[in-house]
Amino acid sequence: MEIEISSSKHLMYVGEIQQEMYDSAQRRGTGIAKRSIEYLSKKISEGNAVVAAENGEWVGFCYIETWSHGQFVANSGLIVSPKFRQKGTATLIKNKVFQLSRDKYPTAKIFGLTTGLAVMKINSDLGYKPVIYSELTQDDDFWNGCKSCVNYEILMKKERKNCLCTAMLFVPNNNKVNEVGTEQPENKYKNEQESNLSV
Ligand SMILES: CC(C)(COP(=O)(O)OP(=O)(O)OC[C@H]1O[C@@H](n2cnc3c(N)ncnc32)[C@H](O)[C@@H]1OP(=O)(O)O)[C@@H](O)C(=O)NCCC(=O)NCCS
Repeated sequence: MEIEISSSKHLMYVGEIQQEMYDSAQRRGTGIAKRSIEYLSKKISEGNAVVAAENGEWVGFCYIETWSHGQFVANSGLIVSPKFRQKGTATLIKNKVFQLSRDKYPTAKIFGLTTGLAVMKINSDLGYKPVIYSELTQDDDFWNGCKSCVNYEILMKKERKNCLCTAMLFVPNNNKVNEVGTEQPENKYKNEQESNLSV
């Protein structure tokens, strides 16, 4: 299987990707908006997505979105073709799109909202932590994306502070502007390695 940063050669899969996003959302009953072909095509041709394929058959997809003028990045629209699920495909795609996000936006915080256990597991392994919604981007354009969700009324009732989705956030080590007095602790394993070296 090839898992690549997207380019125009992947545009041939865009219809299938869009349809599977829509069908999966229907099956889950979440009512997530159908992303337009134009929007997905732009992500693909600008290299802001990751596409998995096998022998010319589409396997999976995820793309990058930026919010709050690049202070936040979301890895959105993760989707794996049903016959390739439960084989570690989403894990590989998320790893690649996470690395792409880190390379393109090294100081950005990376976040996601999900109700899915698979995504929670993958995000935890990448170093995301569960947070309350006020830690995420407050960009209205991002939250407007929830309008098509069946739970939007709950989100509004809770004044955008929480809802049914779990919010997860990755804060890069080089991002020191977290909150007053909450600099990230040093990486425990890095310290151990350093102290081993000095023995
Ligand atoms: C969610 C989705 C992307 C997972 O893809 P996948 O290729 O099957 O995921 P992986 O095989 O990499 O599994 C990752 C982990 O999640 C677990 N997992 C996978 N599907 C799961 C499910 N439906 N329920 C619970 N756990 C699940 C796996 O066991 C694995 O856990 P492990 O690391 O402890 O072994 C895929 O089911 C999908 O496309 N669903 C529809 C769209 C969707 O829900 N997207 C996410 C939007 S936030």
